[in-house]
Amino acid sequence: MTSAVQLLRDQVTKELGDSVTIVVLGASGDLAKKKTYPALFGLYRNGFLPDNVRIVGYARTKMDHEDYLKRITQYIKVGDDGDKLEEFKNLTDYVSGQYDQDASYQHLNTFITNSEVERKVASPNRVFYMALPPSVFIPVAQGLKRNVYASNGINRLVVEKPFGMDSESSNHLGRELGALFTENEIYRIDHYLGKEMVKNIMNLRFANIFFSQIWNRSNIDNIQITFKEPFGTEGRGGYFDEFGIIRDVIQNHLLQVLTLIAMERPISTDSEAIRDEKVKVLKCIQPIALEDTLLGQYVAADGKPGYLEDETIKAKDSLTPTFAAAVCWVNNERWEGVPFILKAGKALNEAKVEVRIQFHHVAGNLFSGSARNELVIRIQPKEAVYMKFNNKQPGLSYQTIQTDLDLSYHERYSELHIPDAYESLILDVLRNDHSNFVRDDELERAWKIFTPLLHQIDGHDSQVDIKSYPYGSRGPKELDAFVKKYGYHRDANDYTWPRQNVNPATNKL
Ligand code: BG6
Repeated sequence: MTSAVQLLRDQVTKELGDSVTIVVLGASGDLAKKKTYPALFGLYRNGFLPDNVRIVGYARTKMDHEDYLKRITQYIKVGDDGDKLEEFKNLTDYVSGQYDQDASYQHLNTFITNSEVERKVASPNRVFYMALPPSVFIPVAQGLKRNVYASNGINRLVVEKPFGMDSESSNHLGRELGALFTENEIYRIDHYLGKEMVKNIMNLRFANIFFSQIWNRSNIDNIQITFKEPFGTEGRGGYFDEFGIIRDVIQNHLLQVLTLIAMERPISTDSEAIRDEKVKVLKCIQPIALEDTLLGQYVAADGKPGYLEDETIKAKDSLTPTFAAAVCWVNNERWEGVPFILKAGKALNEAKVEVRIQFHHVAGNLFSGSARNELVIRIQPKEAVYMKFNNKQPGLSYQTIQTDLDLSYHERYSELHIPDAYESLILDVLRNDHSNFVRDDELERAWKIFTPLLHQIDGHDSQVDIKSYPYGSRGPKELDAFVKKYGYHRDANDYTWPRQNVNPATNKL
């Protein structure tokens, strides 16, 4: 075991001693089976769960132990670790009960207490993971606090978006949860903060002197943060139609990436120091104006159904955007005038999440054919950091050509294992590290930036214009002109990434 891994294990032990009970509420649901249990298994397999651990699933569905095990292991990739999976199964139980009845929670509490007694637990530490629809967040948190909270142990409440629909509903949720659990006990998950490349942004920025020197309006022209998915709402329309792409992806995942790109250097790597800086930068962003957006909804193409044809979309005249590009302006000394273009869409031509930082043209440039530098942080798939830059064409030519410095993780690192975001975040919960979780004031600020725009869209303001785009395309056809308007310069040459085995004479693959 490497020392870095041991360090993490020691931090868990320091926090929890050797025992914890992890209660997964909503254990029969999608999030639990697709993300929570596979992440818990990953942590178990790698030795990160305390030795004396019990995982208790809780949900309304009545099912026997075998059904429960079958359900929660469906998405676990076992590889060569079949034995470990059997051990893992022995660590877990299921209790069914209602979400709004004290008697159900009392039953759950008795179950957990008996298990703690049996396991000779010194301090009853309990982690409550709410893999639940938002409609039951408050009653469940209340039921837990009244009946299952361990007054003589450590309690943690893990909750996942959607945290409300706008400022008002989010503040309401915040007040209700805040009355039950302290801010230190609450972990608001934004799973993008658990992604390897997102966690890397601070290292890149603050551990490299050349980046710290150029990371400002004097050098950077525009920044795009892009999320593309090649599939539509298929089956999730009920949820999606109420929320739309801005609430689903932009207000949380992409805005979190923006804050990490834009924030000032924190005074330390302490979680509150980091979150203080994130809040400060959010305070510098004005609410997004409708004219700084481009909205779209996909329509059928090439045999793929349009958004409104999805059976799970009830309103057949829905104007919910499935694509949005929204520009944020960070009004501070570092960023004034630099557009941060947040773009996200479903049913596009590819799967890709990246940050693209485009620098200014070189002033008084000597070399024709040189292009703007770009730093690209590829979050997924194929994690990479690459810098597009200009170089003399190798050989007798004096021509300037575009190439890159490329740190592609899968080429560079052998035996690379990038853990799932949830695995990394649940480990942070056990270590009591809040750095990669959303603080209450951060959430409030994030909603302030989007609420007026969302209300205009929800209210079908006459100026809201939803463009259609074909399933599988790059988005609305207006997109190129839109990003150009904010300064993004697409080079005429046909540079594509990744580039290997390039012919120097042609600079082509
Ligand atoms: C979720 C959204 O938060 O993130 C989904 O609700 C989206 O609509 C998903 O598909 C994307 O996550 P990932 O990890 O697959 O990029």
